Amino acid sequence: KILILDFGSQVTQLIARRVREQQVYCEIHPFDVSDDFVREFAPAGVILSGGPNSVYEAVGWHAPQSVFELGVPVLGICYGMQTMAQQLGGTVESSGKREFGYAEIRARGHSELFRGIEDRTNDEGHGLLDVWMSHGDKVTALPPGFKVIASNESCPVAGMADEVRKFYAVQFHPEVTHTIKGKEMIARFVHEICGCGHDWNMPDYANEAIEKVRAQVGQEEVILGLSGGVDSSVVAALLHRAIGEQLTCVFVDNGLLRLNEAEQVMLTFARNLGVKVIHVDATEQFMGHLKGVSDPEAKRKIIGREFVEVFQAEAQKLPNAKWLAQGTIYPDVIESAGSKTGKAHTIKSHHNVGGLPETLNLKLLEPLRELFKDEVRELGITLGLPHEMVYRHPFPGPGLGVRILGEVKQEFADLLRRADAIFIDELRAADWYDKTSQAFAVFLPVKSVGVMGDGRTYEYVVALRAVETQDFMTAHWAELPHSLLGKVSNRIINEVRGINRVVYDISGKPPATIEWE
Ligand code: XMP
Repeated sequence: KILILDFGSQVTQLIARRVREQQVYCEIHPFDVSDDFVREFAPAGVILSGGPNSVYEAVGWHAPQSVFELGVPVLGICYGMQTMAQQLGGTVESSGKREFGYAEIRARGHSELFRGIEDRTNDEGHGLLDVWMSHGDKVTALPPGFKVIASNESCPVAGMADEVRKFYAVQFHPEVTHTIKGKEMIARFVHEICGCGHDWNMPDYANEAIEKVRAQVGQEEVILGLSGGVDSSVVAALLHRAIGEQLTCVFVDNGLLRLNEAEQVMLTFARNLGVKVIHVDATEQFMGHLKGVSDPEAKRKIIGREFVEVFQAEAQKLPNAKWLAQGTIYPDVIESAGSKTGKAHTIKSHHNVGGLPETLNLKLLEPLRELFKDEVRELGITLGLPHEMVYRHPFPGPGLGVRILGEVKQEFADLLRRADAIFIDELRAADWYDKTSQAFAVFLPVKSVGVMGDGRTYEYVVALRAVETQDFMTAHWAELPHSLLGKVSNRIINEVRGINRVVYDISGKPPATIEWE
């Protein structure tokens, strides 16, 4: 396995993604772990990430010295290269200007890292590479034992290596897709230089995870809040496989779910898989508390609070339960890790089940803690969940509560559910569902005038939203074909009495957000 030490770069997670794509297991830890930790981890290789600092300014921001004493290969990226240079006796200085973005570099000498990897060659037959640079500092003197393996005019040391000790470092970012051959460089490092095999694969992982849950839980019982989303669904499938009847899922219908969602969850889990699921219809309780409330944050708080209340009441009916299972995934773990680098990450405040563990006095079971989102999906498929469930768009915890602007009313939720289902149906039919990251309808509680047959109508508006995004932090509105939008609009207006106008949201994030509230 590979140890990735994080110096706070925004793209550290991508390094882990790239390594795991090579079927090599890796973990990200903060750079300030102890020497003992590094030795106990016993990595086959270490990768030092980029980071926002300057090595000569950020006192103490260096790798544990043991990294260079283990006798295993090390790859430094950007800041990781600078700290490697400095810790091993080289010099790093400010280059006076920041370089950011695309750059062409020339591979030099014969380095194992770049051997046979190039985008093209120059007139003299030297390999050229298209890379993504981001730096304000440069290595001006190599540490003893090192040679230059890549350079260009503005960055004379764009890469350096000590082939004897197998220390490699690059000033650019091989982990981002803009570095065209980055994937091959990572593959070279982990497979050939570190000697890792292709050991990280889903069927094996699934079996190990099942065994691990059995060992952890023993004969005790487990409760899981099943939402129908990808993460909790995969946890349910995994735990059911591992401990069968010892698992009880609680599915809370807050009245703000999509059309037929409750039925579908019950069908997939209770009927088809034979999972014990308690279906709680708490629509009235949620609607009652939301009455008269129109502030978005207040609505979110109420929905979160009522969820905890309902869930807790159900949990108390299961006195034998000793564990609470949650669908926490690896990005959540990294984001909330308490360390100096924690600051570089944006911490998401969207947590649906926050506050549950403490009050329930249950032990936490988080079987997806090591997985990235796409690995969770792969695991779901491996466990036999339907493709449609595993590859569905994310749905926010507060559900339609944040898609009905202002006060939430049962009548509005019913109209919105039907309009939304038509939109999603048509997206699927036109093969656009998988091309968008998230798509949904929003209910606008304003009325506008229309005509239908001989009569005048005065009804509500629905907005359609479809976005494309990698990380949900920024997003583009999807350029859906006009014919598709036209068809959706026609169907909604004709089939959903109460809606006489449909509009399409063409706002990017930023400055808008994906949801309307
Ligand atoms: P925004 O609207 O902030 O949404 O651009 C980004 C992503 O987060 C989802 N989202 C939520 N998820 N609870 C959740 O579980 C929430 O309160 C919440 N608010 C937004 C949103 O659907 C999108 O995928």
